[in-house]
Amino acid sequence: MKRFLTVGDIGDLDAALKEAAEVKKTPFAWQNLGHNKTIIIIFFNSSLRTRLSTQKAAMNLGMNTIVLNIGSDSWKLETEMGVVMDSDKTEHLREAIPVIGSYCDIIGVRSFAKFEDRDAEYKETIINQFIQYSGRPVISLESATRHPCQAFADLITIEEYKKVKRPKVVLTWAPHPRALPQAVPNSFAEWMKAADVDFTITCPEGYDLAPEFMQGAHLERDQKKAFEGADFIYAKNWSSYEQYGQILGDCHDPRFMKWTVDAEHMSWTNDAKFMHCLPVRRNMIVTDEVIDSANSIVIPEAANRVVSAQVVIKRMLESL
Ligand code: CP
Repeated sequence: MKRFLTVGDIGDLDAALKEAAEVKKTPFAWQNLGHNKTIIIIFFNSSLRTRLSTQKAAMNLGMNTIVLNIGSDSWKLETEMGVVMDSDKTEHLREAIPVIGSYCDIIGVRSFAKFEDRDAEYKETIINQFIQYSGRPVISLESATRHPCQAFADLITIEEYKKVKRPKVVLTWAPHPRALPQAVPNSFAEWMKAADVDFTITCPEGYDLAPEFMQGAHLERDQKKAFEGADFIYAKNWSSYEQYGQILGDCHDPRFMKWTVDAEHMSWTNDAKFMHCLPVRRNMIVTDEVIDSANSIVIPEAANRVVSAQVVIKRMLESL
């Protein structure tokens, strides 16, 4: 495996899920695979789970890990091509990427959407430069449009907790005070459409994901109807794709606050499990009562981030 950005990069999902179960059962069985190999993970943005789970996964495989926080641990990097570099950015990605590649065997990159240029961001110009210029396999640790390590962990978690062969999985928009990227819901939709699940998206008008992620998913504008019969509720906020990066009204407005997942919402479901990628804003996205309930599986979901990362890094090491 040379890159991990989309669901297509993982290949057959059943095989990936079987491999994930094996990795979870015997995480240290491939310690020799990573011996004397190095992964550098690069963060343009903050992280708790991705940073720790990727390091843990690499360590389980016997690798050395280096973490670089761009801007605070390194020079500020220019990411635009063809610019006159007279700002506070000291170094260009064009040099930084091959230099980083020369120090490691695998690279992981987190670089969120900045909501400046939708076309450029949906073309994934930053992570594609890492793929093009590093000479190393590249893992997306959340790029402008996707968060594949999260979506793979979400699928592993659904596989572990499902009570029926083909569960109903609902991705619901929920309110948030700040404009958030579309990467998590995009990837979740992409992976759920590829998996053997009955998948529904519910969100207010104006919050539809990009057409390529909506296409093939069942859209139900009425949140109550969407929740009916659900086995899994996956809550997430995202900003508008259409009015790119915008919040379409105050999050405290009752029109939006009614989307917060509370006990009444969960009562509409088939005793659904509650999922969220974390970090989560309590009593905004989800009430304390729901996230603290026995049906909340947000912690095992986060724990599976080690498993998804380990499968991906293992496959990359095997293909070096
Ligand atoms: N879910 C997730 O990616 O968490 P972090 O942003 O903390 O890495």
